[in-house]
Amino acid sequence: MLFYNMKKREKHRKKKIKGEGEKFIKTRIPGFDSLCGDGIPVGSSVLVEGGPGNGKTIFCLNLVKTMCERGKKVLFMSFEEPEDRLMDHLWLFGAKPDEYVKKGLLYVKRFNALDIARSVEALLSEAKKELLIEVQPVLIPPEFKPDIVLIDSLSSISSAFSGESSRFRIYMEQLFRYLEGHNITSFLVREVANPTHLASGYVEQGEAVSFLSDGIIVLYNVFYKTGHRKRAMEIIKMRGVDIDRRIVEFEIKKGRGIVVNPNKVLSGNYILT
Ligand SMILES: Nc1ncnc2c1ncn2[C@@H]1O[C@H](COP(=O)(O)OP(=O)(O)OP(=O)(O)O)[C@@H](O)[C@H]1O
Ligand SMILES: [Mg+2]
Repeated sequence: MLFYNMKKREKHRKKKIKGEGEKFIKTRIPGFDSLCGDGIPVGSSVLVEGGPGNGKTIFCLNLVKTMCERGKKVLFMSFEEPEDRLMDHLWLFGAKPDEYVKKGLLYVKRFNALDIARSVEALLSEAKKELLIEVQPVLIPPEFKPDIVLIDSLSSISSAFSGESSRFRIYMEQLFRYLEGHNITSFLVREVANPTHLASGYVEQGEAVSFLSDGIIVLYNVFYKTGHRKRAMEIIKMRGVDIDRRIVEFEIKKGRGIVVNPNKVLSGNYILT
């Protein structure tokens, strides 16, 4: 028995050391990593938020490319765009999605948020209003063990739980716990009409994910009083990382995707949306 426990402990220790090899993830999105200290801690849950068309999906597609090219396993869970459209977009950004899929590095899957809401409801009624079962049977395909999970978007999942915000919250807590327990780094898209920290009247609609998440990256649409627009981004928080707290410009470039300019801090007379 003692021998068995020692073997088990040694196995656990080795696993831990293996995991310690890489504590931080560099996104390798041009210009981004210099804003994010040592990088994004492995196992973090990061919200990618912003208004419509601000570049949230493209940010995630860029991550698919940079992560798969480094041999990381990526699960892209789409609640909005179909798989083939996302695969086509990846080609536009210089990625080779077919190759990643063939190597077993990429799994793009479209989910129906209503199915998830229904499954949670069924589980809840079985478990007397307490979600005792792990999220895995509900959401994460059991045959794929990802390093990175991208969810586009939490807002779509949330709207499927219409009027049942407590169920969505229970589900989110389980999901965050699952991701943390499996040391999966996740990027969770959230559509926001007003940037969280800017709008004084902002009420988090039953989501409470800002506090559950380890990091928040906001993508802005910048409107200048002169009539022109720009794109900008900011890291609002990243637990355990000394972040650069500036709002800097970025562009979405043909054939490359997101390119951040960490030296171009926003200035002038503008409004962030
Ligand atoms: N191939 C491309 N080259 C350059 N710019 C592009 C390309 N594809 C999309 N864009 C720009 O990116 C914008 C959309 O980005 P994206 O789809 O990531 O937004 P989003 O934040 O996910 O929006 P939504 O909330 O509607 O899903 C488009 O409006 C377009 O201006
Ligand atoms: Mg999108």
